[in-house]
Amino acid sequence: MVNLGVLVSGSGSNLQAIIDNIEAGRVDARIQVVISNVPGVYALERAKKHGLLHRVILHKGLNREEYDQKVVEALKARDVELVVLAGFMRIITPVLLRAFPMRVMNIHPALLPAFPGTHVWQTQIDYGVKFAGCTVHFVDEGTDTGPIIIQAVVPVYDEDTADTLNARILKQEHKIYSQAIQMYAEGRLEVQGRRVLAKGVPRAVDSFLINPPPTFLGG
Ligand code: GAR
Repeated sequence: MVNLGVLVSGSGSNLQAIIDNIEAGRVDARIQVVISNVPGVYALERAKKHGLLHRVILHKGLNREEYDQKVVEALKARDVELVVLAGFMRIITPVLLRAFPMRVMNIHPALLPAFPGTHVWQTQIDYGVKFAGCTVHFVDEGTDTGPIIIQAVVPVYDEDTADTLNARILKQEHKIYSQAIQMYAEGRLEVQGRRVLAKGVPRAVDSFLINPPPTFLGG
């Protein structure tokens, strides 16, 4: 059983998926605290509905390091082992990373290392990629640069908008974040430099996707 601290800034649909998977017994973890840097966000409401301890930590008057120090104290006070960034829209400093080395995970709505940063749905469409996706990674000192744990791929369609692509990617986020946490809880993740090996986890099927699909080649 791994003790989680979940950091949020918004709607918290990833938080919800993790809560649901824990409650269904699919993830062997316990959410010890939900921390938001923004008051009144729906993620806090979700925490409340499920009886989870939740806190708002405001950054007003604090520099980034001081802010992270407060977050670290709140996490340590609840015996948190793994920090889960679930739509937490703040840059993390080494203060947090040193307190939880290779124990901070983030989810990003793109196939890293492509399209780091925020609000990348339209960026992916405008770039013209035929596949998009999402990535769960350990956080290091760069922005969206840490070792990759798991990724899911989705197609991009000609008629996509940022909203439709976001919805397609989010569905996969809700699966892979819980899977990453469960693999961690089972002690299966082994970090070797940039690579995260998933010990004892079945290999992905040796398959492929082509977009647009290969119609005239006979499927
Ligand atoms: C998710 O799409 C997540 O990938 C993204 O914020 C959204 C949070 O949604 N995170 C980032 O862009 C981090 N750079 P949620 O609040 O409904 O879970």
